[in-house]
Order: sequence, then structure tokens, then C-alpha cells
Amino acid sequence: MSENVLQIENLQVSYGGIEAVRGISFDVKQGEIVTLIGANGAGKSSTLRTISGLVKPKGGKVLFEGDDITGKDPTMIVQKGIMMVPEGRRIFPNLTVLENLKIGAYLRNDDLEKDIEMVFGYFPRLKERSWQEGGTLSGGEQQMLAVGRALMGRPKLLMMDEPSLGLAPIVVQGIFEIIQKIHDDGTTVLLIEQNANMALHVADRAYVIENGKISLEGTGAELLENEDVRAAYLGSSK
Ligand SMILES: Nc1ncnc2c1ncn2[C@@H]1O[C@H](COP(=O)(O)OP(=O)(O)O)[C@@H](O)[C@H]1O
Ligand SMILES: [Mg+2]
Repeated sequence: MSENVLQIENLQVSYGGIEAVRGISFDVKQGEIVTLIGANGAGKSSTLRTISGLVKPKGGKVLFEGDDITGKDPTMIVQKGIMMVPEGRRIFPNLTVLENLKIGAYLRNDDLEKDIEMVFGYFPRLKERSWQEGGTLSGGEQQMLAVGRALMGRPKLLMMDEPSLGLAPIVVQGIFEIIQKIHDDGTTVLLIEQNANMALHVADRAYVIENGKISLEGTGAELLENEDVRAAYLGSSK
């Protein structure tokens, strides 16, 4: 459990004059679920989008399996095995569930049947709806599809940007059970969440991001017990 799959060193991201990420460092080890929690605007998505190559950093480094992938193009990063489930799901509304899943494997041309069955194993609901257009699915089903699409790329590192956003608590519960299962089956996960309670419960380790910087880190269990985290993110104190 000691090998770093992902290592972020002093990452800085700016949009014009706005400094969104101001020197963040963290790592994700083989087999872990690591979560970055923080309020809206803290710099979580900017961090994830930079790892994916969608945003070029102003400074710092992104290392994946020891290779420097800072600022590389998104296709190359996907080829390396980093898949992202974007904020807001971004499924293709006019394509069927099955077509959406196949797009997740666009860099491969080998037999996809096995992977589609693997995704349907996690999400039986998607199997029932495989011929339905993505846009006609419920929010929770669309999130399942977004996760399934990322799994089709056989990720070494699965990154998820706020999978719970806009979903009812019962649906969120279901999504998190699947995240846990995907992790238990061997996938390394980097999870970004405003829903700190759910995220800290599934995470091995967690980092709190405030105004583009890491303000706290620890195990999921430690941060669940932390007074400041409880007051700021869990809506309770001891
Ligand atoms: N494309 C963009 N152009 C300009 N500012 C942006 C852009 N994306 C994000 N920001 C700003 O960067 C900061 C961090 O945003 P973001 O990374 O989306 O935070 P989070 O995901 O934690 O809510 C915010 O102040 C946000 O307004
Ligand atoms: Mg965000």
C-alpha cells in the first residue's frame, strides 16, 4: 500500500487573475480511496481537471506512476489509465445507455462485451435501460452511467467530481455503496465531494481544501472526528 499512484506537487492553477489552486500537494497510493473535500469554489474541480489535462497548471507537478504528466494532453492521460467522472455527469443525452458506455472505451477496439457486463454487474439498472436514451434517465441513473462509462476505460485511477451533487440522499447512498465496491474490487479512487460526511465514511485518507490550499489532512476516520471539520463541513460539533 505504499506505492504512490498519483503524486501532486505544489500545484497552482489560475484563470486570468483568479488563483483557483494555490500550491496543493497530495498523493494517492495504490488501492486507496482518497477524498478531497471542500466548499464550493475551493479549487477541487480545478485540481481534478488539471490532473486530467483539461486545464494547464501555472506551476507544480502531476506525477502518475512516477511519470511526469504535467500539462500533457487529455487523450494521453486517459491512455495512461486515468479516467474522470466529471462534475454534472456529462453523459450524451441523445445516445443510448449502451452507446454512452462504448464511448468510455473509445481508445480501445478489443471486445467490449466483458466490460459492459462488468458495468451491468455494478449497475443492474443500466442493463434494464441499455436501449434508453441517456437524457431520459433519472439523475441517479445518469450518475451510474457516468461512472460506468469511466469504468469502460479500465481505469488504474478513477477520479470522480462530486458524484452526489443534486441527488436525493437515498440515491447518494446507493452510489457510494458502488464506489466502495469498485474500490474493493481493486480500483484506486480519487473522490471529490462537498458531501463530506459520505466521502469521509468511504475514504482511507482525506484532504480538506480551502481557498485553493490544503488546510487539513488525515484518515477519513480522523477527519470525521475533527472539531473544525465537524463545524465547517458536517454541520455539527461534539
Ligand atoms: N473556467 C474558469 N474561469 C474562471 N474562473 C474559474 C473557472 N473555473 C473555476 N473558476 C474559479 O476558480 C475557483 C475554484 O473553482 P473550482 O475549482 O470549480 O472549485 P470547486 O470545484 O471546489 O467548487 C472559483 O473561484 C471559481 O470561480
Ligand atoms: Mg467543483
